[in-house]
Formats: sequence, structure tokens, C-alpha cells
Amino acid sequence: MTLLTVSTVKGAPGGTTLAFLLAQALAAPSYGTGPCLFLECDPAGGDLAPALGLLAIPGLASLALAARHGLTADVLISHTQSPAGSPGLQVVPGVAGPEQGGAVRWLLDELARILADPSIRAIADLGRLQHDDANDSLRSAAAANLIVTGDDVASLLHTRSAVDTARRAGLALDVVVSGQRSHGLVQVARATEATVIGTVRRDPMALAILLRSDRRLAGFPRTTASRRRTEGLKGDVTAILHSLETRGALVPGPVPAAPPVGTRGRAALAALRTSRARASREAQEAVLVG
Ligand SMILES: Nc1ncnc2c1ncn2[C@@H]1O[C@H](COP(=O)(O)OP(=O)(O)OP(=O)(O)O)[C@@H](O)[C@H]1O
Ligand SMILES: [Mg+2]
Repeated sequence: MTLLTVSTVKGAPGGTTLAFLLAQALAAPSYGTGPCLFLECDPAGGDLAPALGLLAIPGLASLALAARHGLTADVLISHTQSPAGSPGLQVVPGVAGPEQGGAVRWLLDELARILADPSIRAIADLGRLQHDDANDSLRSAAAANLIVTGDDVASLLHTRSAVDTARRAGLALDVVVSGQRSHGLVQVARATEATVIGTVRRDPMALAILLRSDRRLAGFPRTTASRRRTEGLKGDVTAILHSLETRGALVPGPVPAAPPVGTRGRAALAALRTSRARASREAQEAVLVG
């Protein structure tokens, strides 16, 4: 892999958050080697930098200034920041608001050119899908384009319309259902006429731990209780990545060379293989062709 994009159509179903969690998961050593970039390309402005304890600069705005005479991968990397606690994750915080968003639109085409390189692993948050979308260069360069939606009727109708428009432009959008579900995934796949590749639960406490954004939780992330608390949300994210792998849209990076294993190591590896196989089975079951 390569580039994945995440968009929404209606409300705030958690597109930015899911994009970040996917990047965080891909950047973890268990998912292979090499960094993963997370780019906040939403023209309406970025949301996550304050929650991650990052500054606005370097970010998309400073990158636009630096890239006036041409964008290269090195220039891109030099405008990233690394959030504490997520080694391997390199974030390009978004612009301050729609005014700056309009001014850096040209940069998205340049980014699409750089991110088409399959050796770069990146997730781009593209914000709300617009009919005259300037981000289509990024979507065209992507291995998969996810659209996050609630499963209320209005959201599903908007999603269906977006899927239809994108299909006519030659792009496939894959649906992720967020929040409490009132419809089955088969119904969602039928209603949106798209492939549903997963679900993501609303879990504010787990999210606060994963973003390490709540000061009251300082020290909490290292405990077993906090790991358990985040398992469900992390499992949703892993299942989405497995769905993408199953469909060939995501090639995992090379897994780090295994150290020599003793008996305990072998038992741990066996347990890891079993849990991966289970996650993969669950992911396949979640893939519904609409
Ligand atoms: N899985 C989740 N569990 C709990 N809270 C969540 C989850 N995902 C998102 N949220 C919260 O919901 C709010 C909106 O999330 P987010 O900014 O990711 O949505 P969005 O779809 O990107 O919205 P926008 O259209 O404004 O870009 C935020 O307060 C975020 O913390
Ligand atoms: Mg957003």
C-alpha cells in the first residue's frame, strides 16, 4: 500500500477520527515496517491537531508555501509532525479553515502525484464529499476510497447519491457504517448500492485513550484495563484493514524480521496467528457485495 482516502457526506459521522485510527494502526510495528502518513486534507479545515497535542505548523499550510516550486516526497516528509505515543505515524495537520482550504486546493493534485508512489503508506482525510470535488486527483490515486456514514435513512440516501456520482466518474466508494446501527449491513449495502467494508462503534472513552487526548487519563494508556477498554474500537479498525487486504486494496508492509523464538515465543506467535486468522475471518464475513 499506498494511499487510502476517507470522506463523509452528511453530519459528522467520524470520518476524520476513523482516518486517524486507520493511520495509527498501519503505523504500528505489528502492521509492517515504514511510517504511515496521515494527511488532513479537508478543505473545511483540520480538526485533530489540538486533540493530538500538535501545532498547526508544520502542516498543510506550510507545505503549500514550501511546495510553490515543486513538491517532492522529502519536502512532504519535512512538513509532518509525530504525535506522542504513536511511533511511525507522521501527521500533516490541516489548514485553519475554508479560506485557507481554498488557497491550497492546487496542492492536492501535487500530493496525489507524490502519494501515487506505492512505497509511501498514507491515509488522507478529504472531509465532506462535494459534487464538484477538487480532491478527485487524490481519490483517483488511491487504492481505496472509504465513505463513512451513519445508517439513518437520510445519511444512506446521501451516501447512495455520492456513490452513484463517483461511479459515473469511474471511482468506487466503499462504505463504513459508524455508530449505533439500526439497519443490518446487507440492508446498508442494498440502500447505498456499494460494498460495505466495515463498521466503527462510537466509544468516547476508548477514543480518548487512543488519542491520549484526555489529561485525566494520563498514565492510563499503559494499563491492562485501558488496553481492554480500547479493544472493541481497535478491533473495528483492524477489521476494516483486513477487509481492504482481502479485497487486494491494501498490501501490508513487510513484517519485521522475527527474532529467534523460544518456547514462550512460539506460544505467543501461535496465539498471534490464531487471532489474526479470526480477525481475517470476521473481516471477510463483514464484506458484503452490494
Ligand atoms: N468512534 C468514535 N467514538 C466516539 N466518538 C467519536 C468517534 N468518532 C468520532 N467521534 C467524535 O465525534 C465528533 C466528530 O468526529 P469527526 O471530527 O471525526 O467527524 P467528521 O465526520 O470528520 O466530521 P466533519 O464533517 O466535521 O469533518 C468528534 O467530537 C469526535 O471525537
Ligand atoms: Mg472531519
